[in-house]
Amino acid sequence: MCGIVGFTGKTSCCEFLLKGLSALEYRGYDSAGIAAVQADGFAVRKAVGRIDQLREEVEKNPISGVCGIGHTRWATHGKPSLENCHPHFDIDRRIALVHNGIIENYAELKAQLMEKGVSFVSETDTEVVAQLLAVHYENDMKTTLLKVLGMLKGSFALVILDRCAPDTLYCARSHSPLVIGVGQGCHYVASDVCALLEYTRNVYLPEDGDIAVVTPGSTVFYGLDGKERKRVNVTISWDTSAAQKNGFDHFMLKEICEQPQVIADTLAHYIDSADYTIRREHMPFTPEQAKQLKELTIAACGTAYHAGCMGKALIEQFAGVRTDACVASEYRYQTVVEQERNPEGHVFLAVSQSGETADTLAALRKAKQLGMRALAFSNVIGASIAREADTVMYTLAGPEIAVASTKAYLTQVLLFEILALDLAHLRGKISDEELKDALKTLMSLPRQIQSILNQRAIVEDFARANRACHDIFFIGRLMDYTTSLESALKLKEVSYLHSEAYPAGELKHGTIALIDERTLVAAIATQPQILEKTLSNMQEVKARGAYLLLIGTPPQTPIEGCTVWPIEDAPWYTAPLLATVYAQLFAYYTARQHGCDIDKPRNLAKSVTVE
Ligand code: G6P
Repeated sequence: MCGIVGFTGKTSCCEFLLKGLSALEYRGYDSAGIAAVQADGFAVRKAVGRIDQLREEVEKNPISGVCGIGHTRWATHGKPSLENCHPHFDIDRRIALVHNGIIENYAELKAQLMEKGVSFVSETDTEVVAQLLAVHYENDMKTTLLKVLGMLKGSFALVILDRCAPDTLYCARSHSPLVIGVGQGCHYVASDVCALLEYTRNVYLPEDGDIAVVTPGSTVFYGLDGKERKRVNVTISWDTSAAQKNGFDHFMLKEICEQPQVIADTLAHYIDSADYTIRREHMPFTPEQAKQLKELTIAACGTAYHAGCMGKALIEQFAGVRTDACVASEYRYQTVVEQERNPEGHVFLAVSQSGETADTLAALRKAKQLGMRALAFSNVIGASIAREADTVMYTLAGPEIAVASTKAYLTQVLLFEILALDLAHLRGKISDEELKDALKTLMSLPRQIQSILNQRAIVEDFARANRACHDIFFIGRLMDYTTSLESALKLKEVSYLHSEAYPAGELKHGTIALIDERTLVAAIATQPQILEKTLSNMQEVKARGAYLLLIGTPPQTPIEGCTVWPIEDAPWYTAPLLATVYAQLFAYYTARQHGCDIDKPRNLAKSVTVE
């Protein structure tokens, strides 16, 4: 969703602001703007649409200034328009600011300001903050900010310019991410680290409730009590090339193709290949805790939720621990049952690539309030979810730029494989030898994924041949059903085609009515114990004229006219990951056939930081 950048230094801020915003494009946005402090006031450029349009505006009317802010807006309060586009100002244009998040009590605050005669130019909640700061201005911006923050309800990351302090960025965060990068005689601010990678990897990660006063030479942190706080800068290991396309046409394809590497990196972090053991220091349960574990609740959104569903199957089957996978936006409002009030042995686990998804964060907070121990999977070090969890397991996927999640999903499922095996071993469900064999199997994944990637031309040809299909159903049972859910989501996200997932046995209870000769039915069939059942369901849809695709174990008796993308030599617990790679490629090549904006699909945001 919205993106923030800021710069203060001795050189022009414009280049960084535009480049930084481009690096944040992947988050999703519909308008963009920048403002810089100049001798005669703020210079402002805005554009509805893409950053390229903003760049053209700046080329037509260049701006100078060594201290500035920028923003990509994903419309919430008011349509995408120049008026609603950030930065926003107070009436006298003494203050400019950009904001991520939502000010929940903005209507009430706006009404109070209007009673005082303040007029507004936009429909946004953000403008209210700019006007509030001006109305309550006292001594300096830091003092004023402390006062105004107490009036705001909701989530926000704010970066503010005050013409009275022309080289200073005032930052505040509450439940919305912000990073501050340290440069040579300058400082950078951004809502996520991808905007900074080309400039610095030395960053501060402000905490909730922090105010940061950023000048070219220093960053000083304060708490809401106005007292100075000590914050330590950290070095981010992601490199610049990880956030660039490196010759690929799209980030999505690049990220699909990076999977052998990121799976290998994640395996190396958690598994010692010298003796095929799990590195205990990276695991969240001690042997004692593993034995006492009675129940696990997983909460997540979107693709991460599907990883959670995989986690449920893996943990229940390997470790025998009752596990629930919940959509975080539902979990946060669900009735608390008696059992949860006494959470002894009940552990919560949030799964999130960005570590910033608002609903997942709220679910984690609810679980903590209930007294549960809260674990998290996160791909981003220092993200809110990672910080608030009691223990974090990191996926080592590197920056994921394409909106549709691919490599993060595979690494999340891999963490569940490792966690499930570890729990099973610690609880005495599998022997040392069985654990070693399973870990060796996981170690084959990078090679197996690579061999699927090597055949991607076959998937591309199939997508081309079936480009006329308007309805695509994915069917499967058990873990194959979860892979179907993820396959259907991937396809609809990037190609905008109607695609749905059904448990294979459920199809005939209604949905089979939709099957005709323009429908493609893709069966995921990797689970040996129910293979025959899914094959029978394929016969049923074939009889009704559907095109057929099978991803999984090739049937002993071929089904006439059915394309098969084979998965061989993979047990029940790794085959679903391999099936997912085929489905990711299918989604990508289908979207290409339809000329879609693959990395930035319409209406979608990479990081959903509002409810
Ligand atoms: C958005 C993204 C999805 C992602 C979901 C959860 O919808 O477009 O790709 O799966 O958010 O994001 P998270 O960062 O929590 O994994």
